[in-house]
Amino acid sequence: MSTPRPPEARLFSLRNPWFTVSVGLTLAIAVVSILIGFVWLPSVQKDPQFTGLWNAICSAAGVPQKWLVEQPVVSSVKTSTAVLTPQTFAGTDALSIGRGATLSLRCTMCHGPQGLSFANSPNLAGQYESVVYKQLKDFQSGARVNAVMSPMAANLSEQDMKDLAAYYASLPRMNTSTGTAALPMPAIVATGSPMRNIAPCASCHGPADNKPGAPWLEGEPLVYIRAQLLAFAAGDRHNDTSEQMRNVARQMTRDEIEAAARFYAGQQP
Ligand code: HEC
Ligand code: HEC
Repeated sequence: MSTPRPPEARLFSLRNPWFTVSVGLTLAIAVVSILIGFVWLPSVQKDPQFTGLWNAICSAAGVPQKWLVEQPVVSSVKTSTAVLTPQTFAGTDALSIGRGATLSLRCTMCHGPQGLSFANSPNLAGQYESVVYKQLKDFQSGARVNAVMSPMAANLSEQDMKDLAAYYASLPRMNTSTGTAALPMPAIVATGSPMRNIAPCASCHGPADNKPGAPWLEGEPLVYIRAQLLAFAAGDRHNDTSEQMRNVARQMTRDEIEAAARFYAGQQP
């Protein structure tokens, strides 16, 4: 004998109170959370993009303010366009150096007849070719601005700049550091500051390694080095490719800038 089984209550049915209540509660929680997250919370924010209820809802939902309007980020400063490749100086020879020597007659009053300045302009004797060339390019393009140098570079041709670079690179480095004592290497120069993302100066400026375009600093005038570090830190000088120097200088303290400048100025080139 088999007793008939009671008809099974259907699970997914509005007549099943368990089903109605649980689905109803879930929906109610969802609606309340949506109202809180997309309407109430954004509408009490005071930021401009949340003003107005519709704006608040769209912002909370992540809808772009302006659909499909391309707004490329435009830099407010001019950056370097100079390109340094291994081939850039492939054609430099004695002729190039000779032409550079002639052209350099316009530069001697500030950079010295032997590329050694006694007037707080940077020394150019023995400076890397890539540096002299790049800086002249940047003065010409306006990526680096200086009241004296910008007009000096304005009319130089590509070949002029390469010749000047070849000439200055061929001159011997000499010591001009008058009165600046040789100091022990400060920590910021020797080890940088890993916590502030500062690599040791020597890893880009030599002698440990040399990044293309990073100048030789030893024996440069104290006033000049300090001024350049402050200009990088303030963003007034912004021709360093990929912000290599701005990222370093911004993180340095005023004392570290002073210490590094004094150290380099006092070094024998
Ligand atoms: C009236 C003075 C004066 C004359 C003339 C002059 N310069 Fe300069 N030059 C300066 C000063 C000052 C600076 C540093 C600019 C700064 O502070 O940004 C400089 C910077 C430079 C630099 C950048 C060096 C570096 O290490 O970043 C180069 C390269 C240079 N000059 C090359 C030349 C050449 C080549 C000529 C000749 C065609 C020339 N200058 C003529 C004063 C002069
Ligand atoms: C990541 C590599 C890097 C590190 C680290 C670095 N520099 Fe530089 N620095 C550069 C480059 C590249 C330039 C040339 C920028 C340009 O193209 O104008 C430069 C330029 C400079 C100049 C301007 C010199 C001139 O004649 O124009 C000074 C001064 C200087 N650095 C000082 C320092 C000091 C001090 C430190 C250490 C605290 C340091 N740098 C660490 C890459 C570096």
